[in-house]
Amino acid sequence: MQVAVMGFGTVGSGVVELILKNKKSIEERCGQKSLDVKHILDIRDFSSHQLANLFTKDFNDILNDKDVEIVVETMGGLNPAFDFVSKCLEAGKSVVTSNKELVAAKGYELLELAKKNNVNFLFEASVGGGIPIIRPINQCLAANEFLEVAGILNGTTNFILTKMIDDGMDFDEALKIAQANGYAERDPSADILGHDAARKICILASLCFGKHVYPDEVQTEGITNIASEDVEYAKVWGGVIKLIGRAKKLSSGKISATVGPCLIKNGCQLASVSDVFNAILVRGDAVGDTVFYGRGAGKFPTASAVVADVIDYQLYKTGIKNESAVYAVYTFCRKLGQTAADYGGLVLLGKIGYEAETMANAGFVPGISEGILTVCTLIPAITYTLVFILYKFFYPLTKEKLEPVYEYVRKNNESLGA
Ligand code: HSE
Repeated sequence: MQVAVMGFGTVGSGVVELILKNKKSIEERCGQKSLDVKHILDIRDFSSHQLANLFTKDFNDILNDKDVEIVVETMGGLNPAFDFVSKCLEAGKSVVTSNKELVAAKGYELLELAKKNNVNFLFEASVGGGIPIIRPINQCLAANEFLEVAGILNGTTNFILTKMIDDGMDFDEALKIAQANGYAERDPSADILGHDAARKICILASLCFGKHVYPDEVQTEGITNIASEDVEYAKVWGGVIKLIGRAKKLSSGKISATVGPCLIKNGCQLASVSDVFNAILVRGDAVGDTVFYGRGAGKFPTASAVVADVIDYQLYKTGIKNESAVYAVYTFCRKLGQTAADYGGLVLLGKIGYEAETMANAGFVPGISEGILTVCTLIPAITYTLVFILYKFFYPLTKEKLEPVYEYVRKNNESLGA
């Protein structure tokens, strides 16, 4: 699998280094598929870098390279990221991004575009850095109605507040240390004014509540007005001040999304989350409270989530990821230009090694029951295998020619009652 990386900053360079460092184990996890970085897009000069031959300043080198099937976007910002990502998706390339600004503002649009072009748009790294949170919400907790999602979503502000709480620093002093440590940018406004956390709560709220929430809809307040006296007051009260992003479904059905400093009682899990760490609480009607904790920023924690998305893309594509069979089949079907729900081959796939019952339990294909599963016979299994082989070796050249075969599989399954 050939990967292109757009943006060789902190995260992008982390992605390339991580792929090189753990190449063997990553490829094993990709089902023995090779994984190579073919292009790195960056307008800066890297002519003396050890990977100099991979660098390009021309986006078209990636867009027009048929060998590149997945593009990692780690440029940050809305432009030109939106334009580049849109073009990649339209060209049939899947995209993995860590860019929360892009996902918060354009996530819905890009997911629609990905769907239209039968490719994937994955963004685990856009919230919580290395903490798994997007996929747990989308998959592991998918059976829940979500009641609330809240947490410490910005590492820089949490670091500043920790310095104010533990070391008695004032805001300006703590900010300078955050900048010296490379946590806060030279222009730290997106972090300290709460915009970064607002983008992340938008992404979480959209996933949890199924309606895209935009950053300008989030009531946002940063930590610039927090004085040492406030920190002292919180201590006397028996707690700490934390910048909390929070989204909740109201009884009216509307979604409330806010970012602002909150008083947290000592003893609450979020109170003990210090330094650049993030913690996200997800409250589901079935599971209750789950808390996800870890490094919410930084080169390798974020690269960890980006590369995991690349691996997952490969696993979904080849369909060898049994524990998330629903998604694997969904992706495969999308590749065929189908939606999972109307694709009868699901039952076949279930019989050939996927956990079809898992699919049924997840409610992905209403109506699949154990009885139906048992009617899978050798004939449709062989048909599926043939379709798969033809698809794998001749697609897209013979896509039109394959259509009657897909039709046959569909009809065959309909007649089986699938
Ligand atoms: N500036 C962000 C933070 C980086 O401090 O959390 C990760 O999104």
